[in-house]
Amino acid sequence: MKILIIGMGYVGTTTGVVFAKQGHEVTGLDIDESKITSLRKGKLYFHEPGLQEMLLDQMKNGRLQFTSDPNSAIENHDLLFITVGTPSLNNGKADLTYVKSAAEMIGRYKNNEKVVIVKSTVPIGTTDKVEQWIHQSANDPSAIHAAMNPEFLREGSALYDALHPSRIVIGSQSSAAVSELKKLYSPFSCPLLVTSTKAAEMIKYASNAFLATKISFINEVAKLCDQVGVQVTDVAKGMGMDERIGPAFLQAGLGYGGSCFPKDVKEFTETAQSLGVPLTILEDVEKVNQLQSHYFINRVKEVYPSLKGKKVTVLGLSFKPHTDDIRESVAYPVMDQLLKEEASIIAHDPVVNLSTEWLKRGVTQCWDPYVAVKNSDLIIITTNWPHYEKMNWARVQDLVAHPYLFDGRNMLDAEEMKNLKFKYQGIGYS
Ligand code: UGA
Repeated sequence: MKILIIGMGYVGTTTGVVFAKQGHEVTGLDIDESKITSLRKGKLYFHEPGLQEMLLDQMKNGRLQFTSDPNSAIENHDLLFITVGTPSLNNGKADLTYVKSAAEMIGRYKNNEKVVIVKSTVPIGTTDKVEQWIHQSANDPSAIHAAMNPEFLREGSALYDALHPSRIVIGSQSSAAVSELKKLYSPFSCPLLVTSTKAAEMIKYASNAFLATKISFINEVAKLCDQVGVQVTDVAKGMGMDERIGPAFLQAGLGYGGSCFPKDVKEFTETAQSLGVPLTILEDVEKVNQLQSHYFINRVKEVYPSLKGKKVTVLGLSFKPHTDDIRESVAYPVMDQLLKEEASIIAHDPVVNLSTEWLKRGVTQCWDPYVAVKNSDLIIITTNWPHYEKMNWARVQDLVAHPYLFDGRNMLDAEEMKNLKFKYQGIGYS
């Protein structure tokens, strides 16, 4: 099939590469020239394991190309995916500016019938609006077959997730769109669900909101664990053995970040509120998440009531491992609080470059974790990069000034760390 993907973010790029790998002829379109220039050179402009190699392979075999020219791209394709961003506005609602301009662009250059698939995470009712926006800006009166096809891939494992989806959801009132998508997804062996467009839009929000709820739930339980002296990791393990609950997303820690959960929980809550059906549980999910870094710093302050002048090593800047994405990364509110306490910070991350704003605020970046921990009064783990699990902690113990280790991701073995004479503290006892 010939496919056009509009929006070369991590969802659009990964989706394009995977469709090309399955033998389709894929064109990636973005109005951002710098992204297209980089992709045309075969250079992925963000960090995503395995994607760079597969991108080059697909470009070499001629199945994947990139353009910033919407006119010919839209004219020459009949199957179009919209994968542009839907960031949060200040009021918590999703910003549909990019979706609308993608729809208007399709309208402007549309020359015949098109199947238009919305893959961006969009509020309930948006796919219907996309169809209207296309028609309103089109001179060509032929039909639009619209569908909503939510994406469930995670950053850091995007390629694996796109190649092995848990399910495929197709929301559409158009039998032509459903049939095209069924053909496209026929190589996948996972379940495929056909719904209305609104149900598909809601499945995406409800899924992310539920996963966020699991995280905030276990984070609240972790606080109780701290009070009563129970390991939250044991509680999560025991709960997860119940197949109705499952072990995933029960890792207590500093809370969720990234470009999806925070914005999607907000948008879903706002939509429900505006319709007079408040999702009170989600309001609390967000509250718990926002307070988690404060709770953590308060634990730190039980050891150091004053952090003034203390040398703190922060391990991890990305919102999760295997990505260079720092959007809503909890490392930043943690560093903000430490700076307000007048601590001096050395930050390490395997891939993230600290911005000049943070450098100006006095944070030092160090690319070698062993140099970063030298003479440290306190180490804080903010991202569960496997690098930190693999560190030689006996060596670290020799390098630090004081052996305080606060593991904000519960990623290290508490017993092992204590045997190495660290004063180790995770979230939820230890
Ligand atoms: C999330 C969803 O998992 C994907 O299914 C969805 O497609 C994506 O949002 C999206 O809407 O585009 P992502 O944000 O990339 O994916 O990453 P996750 O692995 O879900 O992690 C989100 C955050 O939750 C991270 O900050 C992570 O550290 C945190 N987390 C995750 C926990 O604190 N505890 C856990 O047990 C799991």
